[in-house]
Amino acid sequence: MQDWPYPYLFAHRGGGKLAPENTLAGMATAVQYGYGAVEFDVKLSLDGVAFLLHDDTLQRTSNGHGLAAEHDIAALSRLDGGSWFAPRFAGEPLPTFATIAAYCRAHRLLANVEIKPCPGREAKTGREVALLAAELWQGHPAPPLLSSFAWEALLAARDAAPQLPRGWLIEEQWPEDWPARLAELQAVSLHSDHQLLTAERVAVVRAAGYRVLAYTVNDPARAAELRQWGVDGIFTDALDRIRPES
Ligand code: G3P
Ligand code: MG
Repeated sequence: MQDWPYPYLFAHRGGGKLAPENTLAGMATAVQYGYGAVEFDVKLSLDGVAFLLHDDTLQRTSNGHGLAAEHDIAALSRLDGGSWFAPRFAGEPLPTFATIAAYCRAHRLLANVEIKPCPGREAKTGREVALLAAELWQGHPAPPLLSSFAWEALLAARDAAPQLPRGWLIEEQWPEDWPARLAELQAVSLHSDHQLLTAERVAVVRAAGYRVLAYTVNDPARAAELRQWGVDGIFTDALDRIRPES
């Protein structure tokens, strides 16, 4: 297996459930709780700027409305991405990928960049995010780990920045063809819904030379069980209850 610089705990969407997701305030919360790694979701604005947002649409996590893909970065940067979560986060912007990369580097936070393309823009998003990630982390000892549910995005990322580590995200069903898929992707890791994992599945994927990551694990006992099975990392919202070792 390749070198693996990442810790066991990744703060999911930045600050988990303790701060508005995919914001700078979320990343600061991860730092505050002693986390060494964060996961966040990246997509492209109408004019091709990479920024952080989970959904295809704006309304759940900002005061905007409609499709993210139909807004340019100037419009997106005027939105409030914090009030929906709590009044004290009012005015928290939807950050660009570049802003978050700079914050991660400055605070020694390792990153899992989940490529979350708007529908129909999979390959373009994979390529652009991978190229930018390579540039933003240039010269850094621990590269960002790229991942996606979107297969086309991952292949485009592989072609654009083959040197960056990649993980394949899976949900709903355990894919019987995982060995061929991970080999085609030249992946380092498989990122699974933790409910699909068994001790045997973890062992067999790791024996094939791949890391196993699990999302979203909010129960400390489950986090410990997965670790015992050999899982390499988990994504959690429970930064206050699942604490990094000091
Ligand atoms: O990358 C792990 C996890 O974030 C995947 O699910 O929907 O929270 O992006 P989601
Ligand atoms: Mg995600």
